[in-house]
Amino acid sequence: MKNTIGVYGLGVMGSNLARNMARNGERVAVYNYTRDLTDAFVSRYAADRIDPHYDLESFVHSLKKPRKILLMVSAGAAVDSVVESLLPLLDSGDVIMDGGNSDFRDSNRRYQALRKRGIHFISVGVSGGEEGALNGPALMPSGDWEAYRQVAPILEKIAARVAGKPCCSYIGPEGSGHYVKMIHNGIEYADMQLIAEAYQFLRERVGLSLGELAEVFRSWNETELKSYLIEITADILSKTDQDTGKPMADVILDKAGQKGTGKWSSQEALNLGVPSTIITEAVFARFLSALKEERVRAEKHLSGPAPSEATWDKEYWIDRVKEALFMGKICAYAQGFYQYKVASESYGWSLNLGEIALIFRGGCIIRADFLNRIYQAFREDGALPNLLLAPYFREKANQYQSSLRQVILKGVEGGLPLPCFSSALSYYDGYRSSRSAANLIQAQRDYFGAHGFERIDRDGLFHAHWLEPDNVTRSVKLK
Ligand code: 6PG
Repeated sequence: MKNTIGVYGLGVMGSNLARNMARNGERVAVYNYTRDLTDAFVSRYAADRIDPHYDLESFVHSLKKPRKILLMVSAGAAVDSVVESLLPLLDSGDVIMDGGNSDFRDSNRRYQALRKRGIHFISVGVSGGEEGALNGPALMPSGDWEAYRQVAPILEKIAARVAGKPCCSYIGPEGSGHYVKMIHNGIEYADMQLIAEAYQFLRERVGLSLGELAEVFRSWNETELKSYLIEITADILSKTDQDTGKPMADVILDKAGQKGTGKWSSQEALNLGVPSTIITEAVFARFLSALKEERVRAEKHLSGPAPSEATWDKEYWIDRVKEALFMGKICAYAQGFYQYKVASESYGWSLNLGEIALIFRGGCIIRADFLNRIYQAFREDGALPNLLLAPYFREKANQYQSSLRQVILKGVEGGLPLPCFSSALSYYDGYRSSRSAANLIQAQRDYFGAHGFERIDRDGLFHAHWLEPDNVTRSVKLK
């Protein structure tokens, strides 16, 4: 009997996805470039319906046609070289899926190149880490619809489910699945940084112990903040290090790592000209955290506010921070989903934003109850310009904006950096202002470079004679 699917790459994610597929009734051929991982996989997980191969040709030939192969290799050049090695062994109509965190531009390129050779290329955004891969990830597949239909039964079977619906649905053409995954990760960065700021504020300003903080996060997970990231934060804050007896949170060096998807989200926001400020601040916050040695030195030389003796009403501030966090989260998701909207228009992808929110409800790292609200918002108004304008989010923002302000004020007063909280508030205040300060920017641009400006009282592009001695300035119409 032929295998129904092949998994190429037996790192943690590939292994767990292969096991998930086998458990769900697929006959899975597995292959790894080096035989050590295949050996380790076989010795650990020898199971029915898993067929290990040590030779690429036998791996490919063991597959039922049209062949379906999921690549789980490092994003970048490795994907190209694996595709190259597979091509001579494949037939027209076969399907290659890339489940890594690939750059969507690479995915677009691979999709086009393989299309010319008669091979379908499907980009599959996979979220949920190793546990998700094994028990149900969120999947974001894109490419040709007909090709997707061929792999849909497998993908939808292994994905997480929420209310009976798989957290997997067709995203759109080309590499749009990897785009959706990239912004998922950007939102993940923002979510994590907002949580970290809430933690630092409550710990350093309000003076909560780690035990109290764990309780706070646990209780927040019973509210509208209910989400995987809040849940694991409560768990992390409860752990003690076996070696030192100290809290785990205190033995971990405060330098954040990153593999690039958050940075790509921000770079893409800049390319598209969309204000995804919170994601970008979260990326910068990781960069700044990485300057540990410099920060240690700088602390000795640079002053901040004097320590205050103020006493804090803990209950009051726990509530304020909870609301500030939810408000920050609303703004971060509003930005991420706005970026989807603009990308969809720019690249002609017709992304279904409500459907994306549905996929994110389960399996993925940003899974959260409030994604149901995002889904509802787009279901009620498919042309919604910004989540902040949807009735539920508008009401919450109006209710919680004052808490975000209060927390930022107290943070700034105490010298605490709150980059994502502050960025969320500036975005919110900027977005809700009918009048910005950009009139002055336009005047300056016109003053030094004759770049022209529009007027509020008539149509056209104007230039003012700024250098005339008189303070009464003439505007001339350029266009
Ligand atoms: C997921 C995650 C995952 C990501 C890690 C690490 O959805 O399962 O987003 O894809 O690789 O979270 O990302 P960083 O190293 O960039 O923090």
